[in-house]
Amino acid sequence: MTAFVDLAARLAAEPADAALKDVVLTIAETCAQISRVVASGALSGSLGAAGSTNVQDEEQKKLDVITNDMLSDALKACGPVAGLASEELEEVEPTGRVGGYLVTFDPLDGSSNIDVNVSVGTIFSVLPAPAGHAPTEGDFLQPGRNQVAAGYAVYGPQTMLVVTLSGGVNGFTLSADGRWLLTHPDLAIKPDTAEFAINMSNQRHWAPGVRRYIDGCLQGKDGARGKNFNMRWVASMVADVHRIMMRGGVFMYPWDAREPDKPGKLRLMYEANPMSLLVERAGGKSIEGLTEILDIKPAKLHQRVPVVLGSANEVEVIRAEMRAG
Ligand code: AHG
Ligand code: MN
Ligand code: MN
Repeated sequence: MTAFVDLAARLAAEPADAALKDVVLTIAETCAQISRVVASGALSGSLGAAGSTNVQDEEQKKLDVITNDMLSDALKACGPVAGLASEELEEVEPTGRVGGYLVTFDPLDGSSNIDVNVSVGTIFSVLPAPAGHAPTEGDFLQPGRNQVAAGYAVYGPQTMLVVTLSGGVNGFTLSADGRWLLTHPDLAIKPDTAEFAINMSNQRHWAPGVRRYIDGCLQGKDGARGKNFNMRWVASMVADVHRIMMRGGVFMYPWDAREPDKPGKLRLMYEANPMSLLVERAGGKSIEGLTEILDIKPAKLHQRVPVVLGSANEVEVIRAEMRAG
């Protein structure tokens, strides 16, 4: 049987500092614990609604609250973490320490899938903390290019962790004895694809460029693209991005006219930035329209953003359509 390298050993080979590795290991360990809670489902009474709403006015599931508490507690106990921010918390939470790192996270991505036993995940992003003072909200508002690490865990048929620190993107599979083992080293997203992911039920609300692009895909061999496309939509960004990591594709949650003041559904700090870093490091592209998501200077913590990411050449086809208006 193949001997797999574990996460700690793989991180030891990275040039990043020991404190950053400690933060990533803490998050990874918590994700392993979260996977057990997710897997226990009804047996642990963790399915269903929590009866509360979060700062974005979304109904919280019990697992949104449980996983948020698990990650918050673990990060508050992790020495190099100066502050954290979560999709499920209204405000940033300083830990009382100064320097080191800030962590932002979506503790449970794809909450509409929990009760129907479809893949969900956790997404995290690590930023440098300011030296000399306890972090405030403003200190979190750094462009995605500043991220020093990012990753996600996907709780699916296999539980996997996909991480980037200083260089490439590596995928680890959780073993039966609770260890993250390197099964997918140096992930690379194929530049070309014939598979797209978008929630088609929003079609009538899309901007013209997005409509034209999807129309072109739907016309298949008979249209201008000259090839047939396949469609997937899991409704867990983690699972859709993971598929793209494995076999290429594009994922889109574009701006739409349902709530014109909201620039998109997905959140820059907890979803778009960490996924964009992973995708770019794996050779893909990630844009909000015309520009790269990682170059956005966040204006507020819970900011939303349109997202188009995945196979590089296909993202450029979409960018050209959007540029044409
Ligand atoms: P969350 O469960 O963290 O709120 O995120 C759900 C997000 C994302 O994971 C997914 O791609 C998208 O919402 C699905 O949205 P629709 O239900 O509109 O398709
Ligand atoms: Mn999410
Ligand atoms: Mn979530």
